[in-house]
Amino acid sequence: MLGCRPWNLSLVTVIIITFSNMLFTMLLLQSEDCGPSYVAPADDAGEPSVLTEKPPAVRTPAPAQSCDPRDYQQPSESSILRMDVRVGRWDARRLYKMFDSVVIGSEFPALSSSYSVSIATQSSVEKLYSLVQVAHQWTGPISVAVFTPGDESFFVFQRYLAYLRKCYAPIRERVTFSVAIPKDRPVFDQPQVIELTGDEDCLKPEATLNTFLVGVSKELATWKNRNVYPQNHLRNLARKNCQTEYVFLTDVDIIPSPNQANLLDEFLKSSQCEKCAYVIPTYEIDTRVRFPQNKTELVRIANKGLARPFHQKVFIHNQYATNFTRWSLDVLPGYGGNVDVVRSGKVYVSHEVNNFEFFYEPFYVARDTAPEHDERFMGYGYTRNTQVYEMFVAGHEFLVLTPIFTGHWGLQTKKGRPAWREKQNSMNRKLFDGFKKEVFARYNRDPLKMMKNQN
Ligand SMILES: *[C@@H]1O[C@H](CO)[C@@H](O)[C@H](O)[C@H]1NC(C)=O
Ligand SMILES: *[C@@H]1O[C@H](CO)[C@@H](O)[C@H](O)[C@H]1NC(C)=O
Repeated sequence: MLGCRPWNLSLVTVIIITFSNMLFTMLLLQSEDCGPSYVAPADDAGEPSVLTEKPPAVRTPAPAQSCDPRDYQQPSESSILRMDVRVGRWDARRLYKMFDSVVIGSEFPALSSSYSVSIATQSSVEKLYSLVQVAHQWTGPISVAVFTPGDESFFVFQRYLAYLRKCYAPIRERVTFSVAIPKDRPVFDQPQVIELTGDEDCLKPEATLNTFLVGVSKELATWKNRNVYPQNHLRNLARKNCQTEYVFLTDVDIIPSPNQANLLDEFLKSSQCEKCAYVIPTYEIDTRVRFPQNKTELVRIANKGLARPFHQKVFIHNQYATNFTRWSLDVLPGYGGNVDVVRSGKVYVSHEVNNFEFFYEPFYVARDTAPEHDERFMGYGYTRNTQVYEMFVAGHEFLVLTPIFTGHWGLQTKKGRPAWREKQNSMNRKLFDGFKKEVFARYNRDPLKMMKNQN
């Protein structure tokens, strides 16, 4: 009797192990997600939704080739940046060193071949938390360029990246990161394996970033106030790391409407236009409401004063030529005929921009053969609109799409601009004189009569 026991025990153990193995295999095969994934809370309409408090709602379907359990890697290993800080690609003036695709989203290559459009965006380390909602809303590939001046900034970036990739499957899968480092504030410490403590809260991306930034030296803040943020370098870096034919260039806090990647992809695949810029209207949204789920809801909250065209109160020319009145017509009851199309969500051209003006600065989708962002413009003012201007001179048509849109959290009002911003703006205004002559020489066209307005 006694002698039989060990044999019985091991038989039972073998049986238990076999069955649990089968069970786990089945679970793994069925699970939609491989890693420790971010689970979105139920969306409670009517309740104030503030990004810092409430994580973004997830309503986007997972991409078809979502996940293979074998792809999952430990966050610490997968997040180590593939770069040597000593070896980068200099910009034309040797002011910044670029590092292309230093972390590649696990699905980024596959998504880049199935979708025809990527989001390209850029960010400082301090604003990276906005990416969480963008990546949940946009199911296609995303290329992000991050500015990391110096070792401190570079370290916070690595640590926050480890957190983002651990907490959020959409970031781990869809987002590819590139890095830019200034010559004046180089990075010396090579990328390292980051150990997270494990008590970081996956529901609070902004608060978590702020805890990571505690203790960063005052001197870094001073440096940042005295030096320009190279927006256009970063835009080009993000753009050129996209692998799709079309690129949707945004700022990191510009959030696409639900299912936009699929709807836009369908539209673009049937579009033949070589020189079209497809404008996607941008609204700023009161932080007390939830992100609108469709155009009907957006127009409804806009009519209540809880959303309005981006920059309407700060600088109306920014988006004015889009004509939001016109854009809103197709969801109004009684307006001829498109209500059913809008309900289906299918993307179509609402109207053409016919009153283009110099300060027009829409977010648009175009083939990435469009002119690059001129890197002489750094800091604030004349960075994005000069590229849009060159597109216009080069003969691109600007067509406004519906019913997709983008949103920016917070109604913005014209408060005092910091002095440094004004200074950068006037510096860029001077540089524009040279730029417009070059653009005129390049295309031999002057549709906005900019050459006549000399002096
Ligand atoms: C905007 O569209 C409306 C409706 O079509 C039109 O009446 C108005 O003139 C347009 N505004 C501009 C500035 O083009
Ligand atoms: C838009 O969203 C609202 C709220 O989620 C929903 O009730 C409505 O049916 C949607 N409308 C369309 C046209 O999809």
